[in-house]
Amino acid sequence: MKKNNLLGLLGLLGLLGLLNCSCSKKQPTVYRTDELVTRWQFALADNTTDMPEHWQDVTIPHDWAISQPFDRSYDLQEIAVVQNGEKTATVKTGRSGGLPWMGCGWYRTRVATPDKDKHYTLYFDGAMSHADVFVNDKEVCYWPYGYNAFQVTLDPFIQGDSTDILVILENKPQSSRWYPGAGIFRNVHLITTNKTHVPVWGTCITTPEVSRDKALVHIRVDVEGPKDNVLVLTTLYDGDEPVASTEHADGTMEIRNPQLWSPETPHLYTAVTLLMRNDRIIDSYTTRFGIRSISYTPEHGFQLNGQTRKFKGVCLHHDLGPLGAAVHRDAIRHQLSLLKDMGCDAIRTSHNMPASELIELCEEMGFMVMVEPFDVWDWGKTDNDYHVHFADWAERDITNMVLHFRNSPAVVMWSSGNEVWNQTFPKGYETVEWLQSIFHRLDPTRPVTCGMDQAKTVIYNGFGAAVELPGFNYRTGRYLEAYEHLPQKMLLGSETASTVSSRGVYKTPAVIRPDAMYPDGQCSGYDVEYCAWSGLPDQDFELQDDYPWTLGQFVWTGFDYLGEPSPYDTDAWPSHSSYFGIIDLASLPKDRFWLYRSQWNDAEPTLHLLPHWNWQEGDRVPVFCYTTYPAAELFVNGKSQGKLRFATRDEAVRMANGEKIEGVSAMPPVGKFMIPDWGTAPRPELLPRYRLMWQDVPFEAGELKVVAYDAEGHVAAEEIVRTAGPAHHLQVDWANQDEGAEELAYLTVSVRDKEGNLCCDAAPLITLETNGCTFVATANGDARSLDSFVKPEMHAFAGQCTFIVRGHGTATLSSEGLLSGNIRL
Ligand code: GAL
Repeated sequence: MKKNNLLGLLGLLGLLGLLNCSCSKKQPTVYRTDELVTRWQFALADNTTDMPEHWQDVTIPHDWAISQPFDRSYDLQEIAVVQNGEKTATVKTGRSGGLPWMGCGWYRTRVATPDKDKHYTLYFDGAMSHADVFVNDKEVCYWPYGYNAFQVTLDPFIQGDSTDILVILENKPQSSRWYPGAGIFRNVHLITTNKTHVPVWGTCITTPEVSRDKALVHIRVDVEGPKDNVLVLTTLYDGDEPVASTEHADGTMEIRNPQLWSPETPHLYTAVTLLMRNDRIIDSYTTRFGIRSISYTPEHGFQLNGQTRKFKGVCLHHDLGPLGAAVHRDAIRHQLSLLKDMGCDAIRTSHNMPASELIELCEEMGFMVMVEPFDVWDWGKTDNDYHVHFADWAERDITNMVLHFRNSPAVVMWSSGNEVWNQTFPKGYETVEWLQSIFHRLDPTRPVTCGMDQAKTVIYNGFGAAVELPGFNYRTGRYLEAYEHLPQKMLLGSETASTVSSRGVYKTPAVIRPDAMYPDGQCSGYDVEYCAWSGLPDQDFELQDDYPWTLGQFVWTGFDYLGEPSPYDTDAWPSHSSYFGIIDLASLPKDRFWLYRSQWNDAEPTLHLLPHWNWQEGDRVPVFCYTTYPAAELFVNGKSQGKLRFATRDEAVRMANGEKIEGVSAMPPVGKFMIPDWGTAPRPELLPRYRLMWQDVPFEAGELKVVAYDAEGHVAAEEIVRTAGPAHHLQVDWANQDEGAEELAYLTVSVRDKEGNLCCDAAPLITLETNGCTFVATANGDARSLDSFVKPEMHAFAGQCTFIVRGHGTATLSSEGLLSGNIRL
């Protein structure tokens, strides 16, 4: 077929919408169908051998544990966390979330397989865990790692028009350091094609040459089934417009004036591949891709499309707060929308492969991604974690992961692992090299990093030198040493900060302190507390600002997650979710959100004041301001408390040496601390570079106001916090209204006084009634709350909580003694 004819035919088919889009995986087409298999029956069982009696209908994605009551006894781990420097074992409570994700889960369904001439593939995006798949009672597939995608060919086992599928899962206790979720928690697809077809993940697209004028796009297409007389034709589309094509299964195309993908311009193209036999189309397969170049060099650091930039990234665990591990596109979209507003441009999928939906949304919304498969290699962190499978499965797991995500422009690096203990082995570098060779064989276009925390060791034992793109987790005090000794001459903050805080809870005075613990089980909202191994955001800002060889950072973590409630993890029930998040478990930003926003969001100004203004007369209160403006003045009931500007780098050094500098914030006090030699010593002099802080403001009820000045000294903006009176009414705000959500609405409910001020410590029980829409889940962001996520009632925490509802209708929020809040969705 002539190229022009081909472009014409493909353009027409595309416009008629006849080509399947494998990225949405929904639309049936003439040549292949891709249906979500959502309706299953589920039973919890004692074992994986005796067929359970009682089954219930469930919808996949499904997390069987998230709806259960919390309990201290679940997955109690008596363990010494050696990577945190612990030497003796203690009982860790809530470490994996305090929910019953352990046990055996059986799932069954029936799928239509009416045509024996067709090819049927069952695709699992992830099933937690040890999935044993039976097709018509025959065991056909086993996939132990719950986070990975895998597929099953049904054809050899089909007996008639419909086919029975049974999936048996088993989650062992002591197999995770966080809440893993339980069940078929990601989507399952039934893909029906002709016998000759492009298999799942059957295309490989690269962009070997990229400039503003021209891009070369290379595609390699795999074909399965009888290949006689099969032609492979691929056309590239920009929207509906065909822009290039090839008639080779392994071919290169040129696009003139390409639109380059970046976080700021997430432009996507599609490649439509047709298999043709005797001039008839027998399969169509669509691959979404982007055109962009990446490079990592000591001279220019990380470059995207030829521009140096540093990652403003966050690490994310896979759970979606009160929705648990069951994937939902709207929930991920909401997380990413909040992160986008913060100025975040990158995600690390710590420490496992993500759901397809996360990567698709990162492509669409503009986030670069580090995809990381493992938290352990062959030395475990808990008795039953992935180390028991590593030797047999690592290669297969990496293979599926890379094939799954290699066409995504969002993915800019792989990680081979997180804080693996092999860092300390004399020949640990051999495992690094082996894993990297697997990545490179499958994908020569992206580098591989590894999150290293044993800084002192890896700088000298060959491990750090072997990692293609060295990544440090914390250890800010050793960055310079690493730069000096490692041959790569670049360093990534693969995991940073791990600052701890509770939204809306402020401990006075604001003292920099690792491992601070309080009787109420909360952490201070002043963003000055961390764990022995971690640090404060300011230390990472300094490294990224001052040293051109740093590549950027991935903060631990963007969102709070279930499990790992450090520093309250040792017999400190009911703490059962993290304090590390910049945004809490109810998707409500903590103050730290604005600290990062002030450094990362270049497009919009930030001016944020903390804390609340409800104290006792006579209290001396630290007041912090996170802002993009160069200076600001604080007022209490109109009385100036002084004007402050940010300290320069040089001034910070002088402050560290004891000099007092006029007009900048004083360094906050440093509390008593015990930092191991591998840990990070506090650097109080850095805070005046990034925060405006009035340490000792006399409280007077009324108005706390900050006035920001621009570089010319003109008033640019102001922010006010008022003393709240008694709780009066509930206010409801639709947090994800403008995000294009398909189903879910996130409602933020806050307790307000008569004038509308937030009642900062109100904690009443709030109940939801719906009319038309339906309740899905609720959370309040309190790491110690034992309220169920799945009952339509929740105590407010620091005056707020979140309800998630599905569909259209009215939601009414009530609480005894308060005026209700209403919203129409
Ligand atoms: C890191 C680890 C993360 C998380 C974090 C908490 O060492 O990689 O998974 O545990 O500490 O600070």
